[in-house]
Formats: sequence, structure tokens, C-alpha cells
Amino acid sequence: MSISTLIKTLPKTELHLHIEGSLEPALMWQLAGKHNIDLPYDSVAAIEAAYQFSDLQSFLDIYYAGADVLRDEDDFYQLMWAYLSRCREENIVHTEIMFDPQTHTERGIGYDIFMPGFLRAIEQAKTEWGISVQLILSFLRHLSEEEAFDTLALAETWYPHISAIGLDSSELGHPPEKFKRVFDKVRALGFKIVAHAGEEGPADYIWQALDLLQVDRIDHGVRCQEDPALLERVKQEQIPLTVCPLSNLKLKVIDDMRQHNILQLLDAGLLVTVNSDDPTYFGGYLNENYEQLHQALGMNEAQLKALVINSFKASFLPETEKQQWIAKVDAL
Ligand code: HPA
Ligand code: ZN
Repeated sequence: MSISTLIKTLPKTELHLHIEGSLEPALMWQLAGKHNIDLPYDSVAAIEAAYQFSDLQSFLDIYYAGADVLRDEDDFYQLMWAYLSRCREENIVHTEIMFDPQTHTERGIGYDIFMPGFLRAIEQAKTEWGISVQLILSFLRHLSEEEAFDTLALAETWYPHISAIGLDSSELGHPPEKFKRVFDKVRALGFKIVAHAGEEGPADYIWQALDLLQVDRIDHGVRCQEDPALLERVKQEQIPLTVCPLSNLKLKVIDDMRQHNILQLLDAGLLVTVNSDDPTYFGGYLNENYEQLHQALGMNEAQLKALVINSFKASFLPETEKQQWIAKVDAL
């Protein structure tokens, strides 16, 4: 079997995916029409053409503006349904999906609108296709810790549907330490914890995420390589890194995919995983991220399987389910 076929055939999991970052330009266009929203674009092609970024912030500005078309329960259902349909096509059997409540509550769209929409699509995908889904509520780090506390409190009736709490948005200038107290509360409530760190921010932000927030996984984390002591810790403790190759390329964390360090980190024994982050904005869903690692870095079959197995290991699935999926990957 060719590597490309194996990429498609292997059962996979995705651990770093922002649902708002899976909004397809065609759906954005359709919802803008439905709600009479004036977009600053005159066609679907013009939306696609606008997706050129110089750094994380230049992307986030467009990403938050795009999310404004999401207004009613059915919009959130369609958004989630579209991504889960893609999971089925790509043979993603388990996915842990981030959503940004504050992107919606700041516009007056409450949990009572987006959660039922998300959950309706998730239930349907479970029933029809057997895809398993967990949700990760993410705080926007450019906002205050006080607002993160409010966001957590507002979610209370939805806690049974949420597995983990995360931290995303503009990294530089908003270190993990800014959110230490709210993550103490999150931990006391029994949630798993993840945080974006070491994407644009320095290695020190990864230390903070580990020591102050006590995260279960680091989202991105590719800059851990700049600090040998940190690299050793991440390796020794097998702290998962949810790496997003196409995102790193499109947000200019790297200039060329051939510079990506993911296979170096894998070969050094770190628990790195492959993910798509915001696939519609960065030009590829999960399989395309694997494909580009093959084309640019020569990822071989053993490395591919190790990455796919790492994702199951790093997931929040029960241990028995992890082992069942890993056995299936091994057998292919
Ligand atoms: N980094 C930080 N915040 C985000 C991202 C990202 O890659 N995608 C969506 N929110
Ligand atoms: Zn992300």
C-alpha cells in the first residue's frame, strides 16, 4: 500500500481542531445570505483569496470576523455536521474538538444556542457512523482571567458534555500564568486541561503551561526544541504535543514545510501528534497534513503509524479503547 493510501486507510484521531476554524467559505457565504449579513467579500472565491496570513494575529482577525455568520442553533449544527462528515470521509474515528464560547457570547449568542447545535450533530454522527467526540471549551487568552471565570460559570449546566478546558487565541503577551487561578478552579472541577503554548510564544510559556496550569497536553509546543531542559522534560514525562503542520506553515511559524521539526521530535522520542487546527483557513484537513509531511519530509510508513498511534495514546479515550484502536493500526 502506498503511503498516501495508508494515510487515508488508517483509523485516526484528531486532538487539535477549532470548530470555528472548520467553517467552509461556502457555508460562511450561505449563512451570511440567510441572516442578511454584509460580508467584506463579493464571492466565495474572494473569501478563499483573503486567507493569506503573516502571523497568528492576522489569522485570528479574519477567523473571529468569519464566525460572526454563526447566529442560530442550526448554524452551529451545520458547522459541526460539516466537520464530522469530513471526519467520516477521512476515517477519523475519534475527535476532541475545541470551541471558543467567548467568540459567541461576546456577540450575544449564548450557550443555549451553540451547545444544542453542536450536540445534535455529535449525537447524529455517533449514531449514524459511530464517531466518538469529546468537547474542549477554550478560553480566549487576549481577554481577562475574570472573563474566563465568567465563561466557566456560564457553562455549568453543560459540564457533563465537556471533557477538557483549553486556552487559545493571541499567544504573545498573554502567558499561561495570566490564567493560573482559573485553571486551579478547572482542575478542582475535574476537567482535563490543555493549552496552546510554544506556537509563537517562547519555550518559557510551555514551562508555565506545565508547572502553573498543570496541563495534560500542550497544543502546538513546537518551540520546545529551543530549550534542551524542556525538551528532556517533555520527553521524559511523555507530554503530548498536538502539532499542526499546515497551520505552522500558513502562520509563518516556519517558512517551508521542509523546515518542520515534527519528525525530529518524533524520532527523539517525544509524544507528538498530527492535527489540522483550522483546516479551512490553513488549506487542509487531517489527511492533507499527513500527506504534506510525507511529501516535504519523507515521512515513512513507520513514522506515519507511530504518529497515528501517538494520537490515540494522547487522547482522552478510556485505556481499553485506546488499545483496541492501536491494535487495529498495528495490524494494517
Ligand atoms: N492558535 C491560537 N489560537 C487559535 C488558533 C491557533 O492556532 N486557532 C484558533 N484559535
Ligand atoms: Zn489551535
